[in-house]
Amino acid sequence: MTERTAEEVREFVSRSYGARVRPVLEQVEAEGAVCCGPDCCAPASNTVETLQLIDLTPAADACCDTSAGADCCGDTSSEVEIVNIARLYQETDISDLPSTVTDVAFGCGNPTAISALQPGEVVLDLGSGGGIDCFLAAKMVGPEGKAIGVDMTDEMIALARKNADKIGATNVEFRKGEIETLPVDDASVDVIISNCVINLSPDKSRVFREAFRVLKPGGRLQVSDIVWTQDVPEDVKGDMEKWAGCIAGALLERDYLAGITAAGFHDVTSVASEYPKGRGLASAAVVAFKPR
Ligand SMILES: C[S@@+](CC[C@H](N)C(=O)[O-])C[C@H]1O[C@@H](n2cnc3c(N)ncnc32)[C@H](O)[C@@H]1O
Repeated sequence: MTERTAEEVREFVSRSYGARVRPVLEQVEAEGAVCCGPDCCAPASNTVETLQLIDLTPAADACCDTSAGADCCGDTSSEVEIVNIARLYQETDISDLPSTVTDVAFGCGNPTAISALQPGEVVLDLGSGGGIDCFLAAKMVGPEGKAIGVDMTDEMIALARKNADKIGATNVEFRKGEIETLPVDDASVDVIISNCVINLSPDKSRVFREAFRVLKPGGRLQVSDIVWTQDVPEDVKGDMEKWAGCIAGALLERDYLAGITAAGFHDVTSVASEYPKGRGLASAAVVAFKPR
């Protein structure tokens, strides 16, 4: 792959997610601005069905000497289900959310479940997409608290705002912006959540520094993200489709944690669950704290 600038990477990623979500946005826009009754606002079928299948099958010459015969690698097919490694959310948590939220959930974990969100807290969601984690967080922090979602993709912001109207969520706000340059004041946020987004950034160190800047002293970062537990396979590196698929841009777990520590956080920990046939690809639940 030819080298791309950070701006080009963000543009590619944004175009990819914009295209994926546009049909749902058009559906919501067709419904009208006002919630229209039980049919169009009906809750989803309780489980997030969105699947993102990524083919991680190694190229033949990457795993064996082809002169040794076609079967030398055995069954190497490796299609990884990125989103549904498990049912990410409790059915009871999402049963009252419309399908225009749950159908566009592209996460790899549930950051709102990593550590309890407290009433009154201000929560910031990096790469909020259609808004699922913001809506869950808003419910947890209650009317005295607030959830702010930041996303760079126009379609995502438009859909998340429509979803907020549909749900009647008043303590949620969606801001257009990049997570490398957050449109958020210094020391104004209690908790930062994020779900399968930081891996997409071309400048992760900057994201961690921005997270540190906007957190209040003693605030915490609790994110779900894709990481590698083994070196990123050469055939995956630099593939832009796989970057937008949350794989090629993902860091080694230890580099991810080191980046957070370098930004100034302490007590940085993660629990990584490897995907079956994932060649070391894992979903990680990461926690870190800004000093008081
Ligand atoms: C895999 S989706 C996850 C969306 C949401 N967190 C969820 O769980 O459904 C990635 C989202 O991050 C946004 N995104 C990716 N890179 C970003 C960046 N550098 N700045 C802001 N948003 C970004 C995309 O527009 C997209 O909405």
